[in-house]
Amino acid sequence: MIAQSPSTRLPGLLYGTLILLLATAFYVIFGTTFIKRPHNTLSMFPSKAYGYADRLNVVFPERKERPIKVLYWTTLWGNRKDWKFETSIARECPVLNSVCKFTTDHRQYNDSDVVLFHIGSSYEIPKYRPSFQKWVFVIIESPFNTHRYLSQERWLYNITMTYTRVSDVSFVYGECRRRDPNATKKPVKYNYAQGKKHLVAWFVSNCNTQSKREVYARELAKHIDIHKFGCGGKHSCPRTKEAYCDTVLLNQTYKFYLSFENSLCTDYITEKVYRILDLNVVPIVLGYSHYSDLLPPYSFIDVRDFDSPKSLAVYLEMLSNNDTEYNKYFAWKETHKCRRMPGPACNLCRYVQRQRQRTQVADVVEFWDHNTNCIDAKQFYHDMIAV
Ligand SMILES: *[C@@H]1O[C@H](CO)[C@@H](O)[C@H](O)[C@H]1NC(C)=O
Ligand SMILES: *[C@@H]1O[C@H](CO)[C@@H](O)[C@H](O)[C@H]1NC(C)=O
Ligand SMILES: *[C@@H]1O[C@H](CO)[C@@H](O)[C@H](O)[C@H]1NC(C)=O
Ligand SMILES: *[C@@H]1O[C@H](CO)[C@@H](O)[C@H](O)[C@H]1NC(C)=O
Ligand SMILES: *[C@@H]1O[C@H](CO)[C@@H](O)[C@H](O)[C@H]1NC(C)=O
Repeated sequence: MIAQSPSTRLPGLLYGTLILLLATAFYVIFGTTFIKRPHNTLSMFPSKAYGYADRLNVVFPERKERPIKVLYWTTLWGNRKDWKFETSIARECPVLNSVCKFTTDHRQYNDSDVVLFHIGSSYEIPKYRPSFQKWVFVIIESPFNTHRYLSQERWLYNITMTYTRVSDVSFVYGECRRRDPNATKKPVKYNYAQGKKHLVAWFVSNCNTQSKREVYARELAKHIDIHKFGCGGKHSCPRTKEAYCDTVLLNQTYKFYLSFENSLCTDYITEKVYRILDLNVVPIVLGYSHYSDLLPPYSFIDVRDFDSPKSLAVYLEMLSNNDTEYNKYFAWKETHKCRRMPGPACNLCRYVQRQRQRTQVADVVEFWDHNTNCIDAKQFYHDMIAV
C-alpha cells in the first residue's frame, strides 16, 4: 500500500529520513571513489579504516578454469621447492591430482587462485590482488615465535593454515588415527624395556624458553637421571648423525624422552612428540594442549598429571622397574597409527575446491595473539615448580 501512494501517506519526518538514507547510500556507493585516501604504499601501516585489503583487490574476470592453481609465494623452510605439495597429493590423495596444480613461478601470479604466504619467511607482499584470488596465512611456529611479523598484514588473508584446530586448513606436525575401529586390543608381546640401559633422554637446543621447560627439567633432574644433549648437557650426539641419534641411540637405549615444547600454546604439539611416537620410547609431554584429544590413550606421560617433578620421577622409576607397567605405554601401537608431518596439501586442495565463495580472515593479529592462544609459565606450573 505504501508503495502505491507514498506521497499521501508519508509524514514529513519519514520523508526526511528517506532523503537522509538515500544520501547515505549515495555516499557509500560513490563517495569512496572521490574522497582522497592516503596513498596505498606498503610501508604504511595498513589501517582497517582505509580499506587496505579491499583496495588491494583488482577486478579480474572470474577464473573458471580447472585445475585450481596454487602459487607458493614464499619459501617454507628456506626454499620455495620445500612445500612439495604435488608429491604429497600424488601419494596421499591421488583423486585430487588433477584438481590442484602447484607452482613456484611468480610470473603466474595473475592467474593463481590461491597464494601461500609462510609467515616468518621474508617476502614482499604483492602490490595488488586479482579479485578471485585467495591468500593463505601459513604458520607453524607458535605465536610467541611469530607474532612480531604480523602487524603489517592484519586484514589481508582469506584462509588460515596452521597447526591449531581452529584453522581453516590443518597443517600439523603429526597426526594419529585408529587403524581399524573394530580391532581389539591385543596384549603386547614384545618387551619394549628390553636392552634399555638408560632412563630419560633430552635433546635440546633452545636453552631459555617461554615455557620455562628448562626450569622443570632442572627440578626433575634432582630426582631422576636425565641425559641432556645440548644446552650445557654432558652428552652429545652430532647433528650430522641425526638419524643415528634417534633410531639407534634413543630408540634402543632410553625408556623416556622429554618432549617439552618451547611455548605453552594451544595445540602446539611439535615433532618433539611425533618423532618419539615413531620410536620405542615414551614421550613425557610438557605443553598447553589437550594431548589426550590428539594422541592415542596411554601413549604419553603428561607432566601436568603430577603435582611435582618429584612425583613424576617416582612414577618413572616405578615404570622402569616394572616392565609390565612400562609396556602398557606401547599397547596403542596395535590400535593406532601416528604419522609425522602428514602435510597439508590434501586438506588445502579439498578446502579450496569446496569453498568457492569469498572468505576472509577477520584479523590475523587477533587470530594469532599469544594472549589468547598461549598461557603464561607461572599460571601453567601453578604449584608444581616456581618459575
Ligand atoms: C598482471 O596484472 C597486472 C594488473 O592488471 C598487470 O599490470 C600485469 O602486467 C599482469 N602481469 C602479467 C604477467 O600478466
Ligand atoms: C566394524 O564392525 C561393524 C559392526 O560389526 C561393521 O558394520 C563395520 O563394517 C566394521 N568396520 C570395519 C572397518 O571392518
Ligand atoms: C627401534 O628399535 C626397534 C628394536 O630395537 C626396532 O625394531 C625398530 O625398527 C626401531 N625403530 C626405528 C624407527 O628405527
Ligand atoms: C608390576 O605391575 C603389575 C601390574 O601391572 C603387578 O601385578 C606386579 O606385581 C608388578 N611387579 C612388581 C615387581 O612390582
Ligand atoms: C580475500 O580477503 C580480502 C580481505 O582480507 C577481501 O577483500 C577479498 O574479497 C577476499 N577475496 C576472496 C576471493 O575471498
